[in-house]
Amino acid sequence: MKKIIVAIDGYSSSGKSSMARRLAAETGYRYIDSGAMYRAVTLFAMRHDMIGPDGAVDTEAIIKSLPEIEIDFRPSANGQVTLLNGEDVENEIRELPVSNNVSPVSAIPEVRHALVAKQQAFGRSRGIVMDGRDIGSTVFPDAELKIFVNASAQTRAQRRLKELIEKGVATNFEEILANVVHRDHIDTTRAESPLRMAEDAIALDNSNMTIEQQDKWLLEQFNIAVAKASGSNTIS
Ligand code: DC
Repeated sequence: MKKIIVAIDGYSSSGKSSMARRLAAETGYRYIDSGAMYRAVTLFAMRHDMIGPDGAVDTEAIIKSLPEIEIDFRPSANGQVTLLNGEDVENEIRELPVSNNVSPVSAIPEVRHALVAKQQAFGRSRGIVMDGRDIGSTVFPDAELKIFVNASAQTRAQRRLKELIEKGVATNFEEILANVVHRDHIDTTRAESPLRMAEDAIALDNSNMTIEQQDKWLLEQFNIAVAKASGSNTIS
């Protein structure tokens, strides 16, 4: 069977990363979390005072330092960890300070160009599941399977809260909801590849679905796409 590219896009905390990760584990495909790459660049910028405490972003400094920023992934017991210049930053990039600063950084065209090129390199030999905002529309317009996931802002904030509590990160619901709504706004209105559903993507609203229902649905879509890409009418 032919190896395909699976692009899973959607709003923040829509559950797309978990879905993508589980599909990759089930199919033996590589999983790439493109949001983690924008988060790692943001963390680098924060550590080097390119983002002020008031959120002011030194765009020029970030663009200049792009050649110094190496992002990669390493497999771990619970999936994979994100590496920033070789350092495991998986936990730090998920915390609120990075979440609060990532949207303006990911709106910088030069940052997007650099990361899109890296994402395309990850998918060169196909056999990849990548999640993000512009994977089906910009990174892999030729992906054989494109999914666009959504859920209400309240549902997504609840999920983020649970995730952070499980990781032992102190936070509260109102703060998370405000962050989710704010990021939706920036992600959908930025000039450079705004969050939008690719014309040939399949929409999924998972507000009222269990994890098992989502996984089953996604695996069905995957099998249909692989069969189609392999020129076969039968689904294996
Ligand atoms: O999926 P996430 O919440 O970890 O993504 C973090 C931020 O990165 C999000 O605010 C939007 C941005 N992002 C993006 O602009 N393009 C992507 N392909 C992935 C994420």
